[in-house]
Amino acid sequence: MADNVAALSVDGKTYELPLTTGTENETAVDISSLRAKSGLITLDQGFKNTGSTKSAITFLDGEKGILRYRGYTIEELAEKSSFLEVSYLLIHGELPTPEQYDKFKKEITVHTLVHEDIKNILDGFPSNAHPMGVLSSLVCSLTAFYPKSLDPNRSTEEVNLSIVRILAKMPTLAAWSYKNEVGHPVNYPDNSLDYCSNFLKMMFALPAEKYEVDPVIADALDKLLILHADHEQNCSTSTVRIVGSSQASLYSSISAGINALWGPLHGGANQAVIEMLEKIKADGGNANKYIEKAKDKDDSFRLMGFGHRVYKNFDPRAKIIKKAADNVLDKLGINDPILEIAKGLEEAALRDDYFVERKLYPNVDFYSGIIYRAMGIPTEMFTVMFALGRLPGWIAQWKEMRENNEPIGRPRQVYTGHNERPYQGIDKR
Ligand code: SDX
Repeated sequence: MADNVAALSVDGKTYELPLTTGTENETAVDISSLRAKSGLITLDQGFKNTGSTKSAITFLDGEKGILRYRGYTIEELAEKSSFLEVSYLLIHGELPTPEQYDKFKKEITVHTLVHEDIKNILDGFPSNAHPMGVLSSLVCSLTAFYPKSLDPNRSTEEVNLSIVRILAKMPTLAAWSYKNEVGHPVNYPDNSLDYCSNFLKMMFALPAEKYEVDPVIADALDKLLILHADHEQNCSTSTVRIVGSSQASLYSSISAGINALWGPLHGGANQAVIEMLEKIKADGGNANKYIEKAKDKDDSFRLMGFGHRVYKNFDPRAKIIKKAADNVLDKLGINDPILEIAKGLEEAALRDDYFVERKLYPNVDFYSGIIYRAMGIPTEMFTVMFALGRLPGWIAQWKEMRENNEPIGRPRQVYTGHNERPYQGIDKR
């Protein structure tokens, strides 16, 4: 047997399946010919062991706590790059030249305004609407204002224009979803400001007051967006890819990704972490009590912000965010007791066999909410912030899937229902 194949033996028959190896020496058994050869399929609920695609965008090693965007480490990018430069890198595959970067920033700047009719859609939402539901709806409504974006097979220039538009307009839509919730008038983009400063001003400026962006906050936000920008085939990115695989538009695929991210097991965890820490604080701040609850199988309580499908070591983003949280709170002169509760919870968990045996470490969501809170961003907006950061990753993954002309995603199943049975109409029973 050749050495680059796997052998599967079933009922005395052996099937050879090719092996494929990536640039970081990860090897996969390619089962695309399995059913044709054997009539067999594989089953892997939650796709814990199943690769859905080949991708050149992000590499992560869960055992070693490595995360790289297009080969650059997250540590270097968070320290030295900017969110817009990282967005360009993820989407186009290389860091931009100074000329390309200037052009990219200018294109983004001149597309930040959204159609005035979007305010009518926004007005249709009650003020208690969760901003994630508003955001996913407003993003999908862009298909109405830019009908050419509906066809993903248009020219490269037109697809790139659709990409620039969503990158430019997402901060506006995100800030407007917040203004809807607090019942304030929306703010229009200020094109004299950089990406993060413009977002903060649209979020927090009030008609009666002059709003000055705090550079400490703008810088911390830029770093947080970089840290959230992509994470290979996570739940929401897989959603964007599978929706896009039917040749649905970029905007409808992104809207679907926003909804997948909303779940508390995924991007919604950053909101759930703060709600959990607040509850622990209100209950006297006893970390050990909640560690025990998290371990108790009869208790539905989970330590939100802990654990990860891939990272079985520290999430490298969590390390950077924890350090940034200390730095931002210190610079802003904020003493937030829930940061100490979070640190106490982390220390207690990392000493406990239950967490150590299951390799449950803090993930990207464990400390991020503490920084967002220090910025004055309300808890129900935390997952919107995650979506703002993840947008270039979703775009890059959708673009790669389209450019590789990947087939429509359509998994198989193992049927466990009734076997054939005769229909007995009601009056014959
Ligand atoms: C994100 O995939 C990505 O890349 C996602 C993300 C990204 O950037 O896109 O990194 C962003 O979504 C981070 C994760 C945010 N979610 C949370 O913080 C929610 C809390 N964590 C979990 O619910 C859980 O850890 C998951 C969902 C993140 C991962 O779940 P898995 O891989 O399906 O693991 P599992 O649920 O099967 O858990 C394995 C064991 C179980 O115990 P046993 O059955 O072996 O006894 O670990 C336990 C679980 O009960 N466990 C936890 C736990 N997480 C797992 N126990 C207590 N508290 C937790 N947080």
